[in-house]
Amino acid sequence: MRTQLLWLAGLLAATSLTACGGGSGGGDSTPSSSSASSVDSSSSSSSSSSQPSSSSSSVENSSSSSVSSDGPIAIEPDFDLYATTPSDFPVGLAVSAANEGYSIFNHSDASERQGVIARHFSQLTAGNIMKMSYLHPSEDTFTFDDADQLVAFAESNGMSVHGHALVWHSSYQVPGFMNGYEGDFAAMLANHVTGIIEHFEADYPGVVTSWDVVNEAVDQGASDGFRRSVFYNELPPTAEGEIPEYIKVAFQAARDAAPGIDLYYNDYDNTANSTRLGKTLEIAEALNDEGIIDGVGFQMHIYMGYPSINDFQSAFQRVVDMGLKVKLTELDIAVVNPYGGGNPPPQPEYDEQLAAEQKQRFCEVTKVYLDTVPADQRGGFTVWGLTDDESWLMNQFANAAGADYEDVWPLLFNANLSAKPALQGVADAFSGQGCL
Ligand code: G3I
Repeated sequence: MRTQLLWLAGLLAATSLTACGGGSGGGDSTPSSSSASSVDSSSSSSSSSSQPSSSSSSVENSSSSSVSSDGPIAIEPDFDLYATTPSDFPVGLAVSAANEGYSIFNHSDASERQGVIARHFSQLTAGNIMKMSYLHPSEDTFTFDDADQLVAFAESNGMSVHGHALVWHSSYQVPGFMNGYEGDFAAMLANHVTGIIEHFEADYPGVVTSWDVVNEAVDQGASDGFRRSVFYNELPPTAEGEIPEYIKVAFQAARDAAPGIDLYYNDYDNTANSTRLGKTLEIAEALNDEGIIDGVGFQMHIYMGYPSINDFQSAFQRVVDMGLKVKLTELDIAVVNPYGGGNPPPQPEYDEQLAAEQKQRFCEVTKVYLDTVPADQRGGFTVWGLTDDESWLMNQFANAAGADYEDVWPLLFNANLSAKPALQGVADAFSGQGCL
């Protein structure tokens, strides 16, 4: 069934590639490759004009014959991305849903969006609408309608869902009733986790195959390296050297609710940053000792030159050595880095050379994942958004470090839904070709 659905979706997507318009911001041309720090969490512009596309399997093909001088740089893929993986691991995508901007259900190009998604990806993650306050706004109320629409869409297209996120400190994502809660906080938190997991297990058995149980618990500025949040304050470590108790409570509740689901601890800037990597591993090890974690999520909001491939290799290896799965949960690669030190580089022009460099970077990042993580420990790969213009980085970088970027082109598809050479880069790595 999936094959037929995907064949139809592919037709739809191919039609949209040649029919849509696009166009894109320009400026000076310097891809950033300087080393830098992190992108923290939190919180999208557009482009125009159709371009001829060629069938492509190499950057030469895609960048020489399919580029329009005034349109986005695009390829017309002759593959379905998810089908090029060397082992059957999830090829995921974070999507907007419900009434969000770029919702795959409400946006003006929703049906084309759905076609591209169903063709190339085998797993979905909600970019927002499965976070805490969306699903559990008050103690006695769970609200699943929007999430159900997304999970049902995944199910009907033969895709799985990676849930994100059961416990996250981020301001408005924390349900109001949890702040100042006067009852048994551990029982309440366990009930939160259980209520959500059990709902999807009951109504969509086998579709939500994994969850980010706790997201971003590390804060290297905190005395013990653990972020102060309502969860930490209520359920801190019970002894020196222990991880916060709330993390254990959440993972234990998740394990009890659905023993067959993969449970992840997820964080950012945990590859090159040895302090943050160390704390991530400390959490994973403590949970692994109790048998209540399956893998570590590396968010992977990264840049063209930072972190290094060696940084990725050694971080992934540490998790592999623990016997846990490695999942790249939120991959995007901005072509400019405002945090590299000094004045932010100027707005680059997304020209053929930069597109080719980004293709190579996507390929090399994918390749180091495959080279380092054995097939049975691959939790999969999720790209954080479909089209460049919907990326959270559009807001994040608009004012980052004094910069004022119109676009940072971090994803695999142009604003008009045409595929970028970067998509070919991922497929090249999946299919064992070199990273050109
Ligand atoms: O949908 C509302 C809209 O109705 C309202 O008018 C508008 C006004 O602010 O807000 C819209 O909600 C926004 C939401 O995204 C939906 O697009 C929120 O303001 C905005 O804060 C929210 O940002 C999300 C952010 O997490 C915070 O939840 C980003 O899209 C999402 O990409 C980002 O994802 C995080 C991961 O969960 C964790 N790791 C880091 C990653 C990037 O920050």
